[in-house]
Amino acid sequence: MQHILDELARRRAQAKLGGGERRIAAQHAKGKLTARERIDLLLDEGSFEEFDMFVEHRAHEFGMADQKVPGDGVVTGWGTINGRTVYVFSKDFTVFGGSLSGAHAAKIVKVQRMAAKVGAPVIGLFDAGGARIQEGVDSLAGYADIFMENVLSSGVIPQISVIMGPCAGGDVYSPAMTDFIFMVKDTSYMYVTGPDVVKTVTNETVTHEDLGGARVHAQKSGVADGAFENDLEALVQVRRLVDFLPSSNREEAPSRESFDDPSREEPSLDTLVPANPNKPYDMKELILKIVDEADFFEISSEYAKNIITGFARIDGETVGVVANQPQVLAGVLDIDASRKAARFVRFCDAFSIPILTLVDVPGFMPGTKQEYGGLIKHGAKLLFAYAEATVPKVTLITRKAYGGAYDVMSSKHLRGDINYAWPTAEIAVMGAKGAVEIIFRADAKNPEALAQREAEYKAQFANPFVAASRGYIDDVIMPHGTRRRIARAFKSLRTKELSNPWKKHDNIPL
Ligand code: HXC
Repeated sequence: MQHILDELARRRAQAKLGGGERRIAAQHAKGKLTARERIDLLLDEGSFEEFDMFVEHRAHEFGMADQKVPGDGVVTGWGTINGRTVYVFSKDFTVFGGSLSGAHAAKIVKVQRMAAKVGAPVIGLFDAGGARIQEGVDSLAGYADIFMENVLSSGVIPQISVIMGPCAGGDVYSPAMTDFIFMVKDTSYMYVTGPDVVKTVTNETVTHEDLGGARVHAQKSGVADGAFENDLEALVQVRRLVDFLPSSNREEAPSRESFDDPSREEPSLDTLVPANPNKPYDMKELILKIVDEADFFEISSEYAKNIITGFARIDGETVGVVANQPQVLAGVLDIDASRKAARFVRFCDAFSIPILTLVDVPGFMPGTKQEYGGLIKHGAKLLFAYAEATVPKVTLITRKAYGGAYDVMSSKHLRGDINYAWPTAEIAVMGAKGAVEIIFRADAKNPEALAQREAEYKAQFANPFVAASRGYIDDVIMPHGTRRRIARAFKSLRTKELSNPWKKHDNIPL
């Protein structure tokens, strides 16, 4: 009997060695952890249960029949994060560069299907060279099988991708269809075609880092939702994110008892908005002062910084926060900000996470760059996302809510449930200066008359009371009592029921 047990132990040890000591050392030398080390850091200690440790590829060509490594370049299974089940797959770069064979793909599909069945998040850790070149079409078929599961699981279970090494070709499209992508700075990159192909096709010379490094995707393209310093930080932050999310669309996000009194007053908020309406202030200060224990997990913090998105808790319950940032481009809505926020709102709605919207927006960004880029369609995405969302929606206008952007930012008219304004709010078609220049064009050459008209317009419209008199604002609240009012608003909405008319699916302006 003992020799049978010994044989199992031997096989396990061999599988755990992946591509061998030499390649593990090379992985470490690049500042990267191995597939198994990453899983150990991601999951609760000792909670990992591995599947398919002994799976091998079935290719024969190019001498592959003699080159089999148990596990075939990906470690899969499940474990827990703070006690809650998650499924994982972690590409093992030490085995054929983590490249994807038919057998390797089948292992990933197995955990994707298990996760969907039991209703648990899937987390993929990427570090791979794309399609297994020796396998050909079986590899392409495997990718498509993974993509299919990504799509079927979208909106059913949270899907998270962490890019921790190369990620090219077939490997990029699976993360692209997941809910969140995080990257590790300096050691990871993502692109459809690498620098060599770019050089051949477009004659452009570009490095891996400049083409698809973490900074490029977290700041410029918006493909990545965050960039972290190293493997350890990325994995710790994924654990933090998972804590905010429900396990599936059938469950609620976990609530966490907080020592932060939901009625806590913040006198400093009474002076947050500067007297001069053109002066910026930091909307993040408001967020941190009203959420539980100032704990805010920001999504896409480096991209389209004119809008802030992220998760927090209020009175122990997860909320998604969307907030204009007056400190960047005066908080204007442009293409990037609209896309970023629309995707976030849709995630929250799909997973029943209530949405808090903090508004200080001067409108949509003017200009040919924006119009040629399709601002109309991109702005409409955010409008569409807010309008279709049926989760509890609480909105607070701190200062400007001008024009179409007023409508878009979770207004009463888009089924905002509870809409508050601070006394500093200005809800109008546009700012006073622009307004009088249009409607009193005859006074254009008379600055004194214009100034007089501007003052009149301001007195009439630069306040929340016109909107409040129509019932478009439910109440004008004291800034220092904001946390209490918002906490009570969300509490009152916990039993909200609202559904949209039956349809196969909508046709959001993509
Ligand atoms: C098989 C691969 C491989 C691949 C790497 N390896 N990529 N084996 N198929 N795609 C192997 C190498 O032979 C090597 O084996 C080991 O992995 C490490 O690779 P290195 O090149 O030594 O590492 P490094 O210098 O760090 O470069 C990493 C890399 C490079 C940038 C990823 O390996 C690379 O360019 N690979 C090819 C990428 C590619 O073109 N993939 C196909 C994309 S097309 P040994 O034995 O020496 O350790 C695609 C289409 C799918 O994905 C479309 C579906 C929709």
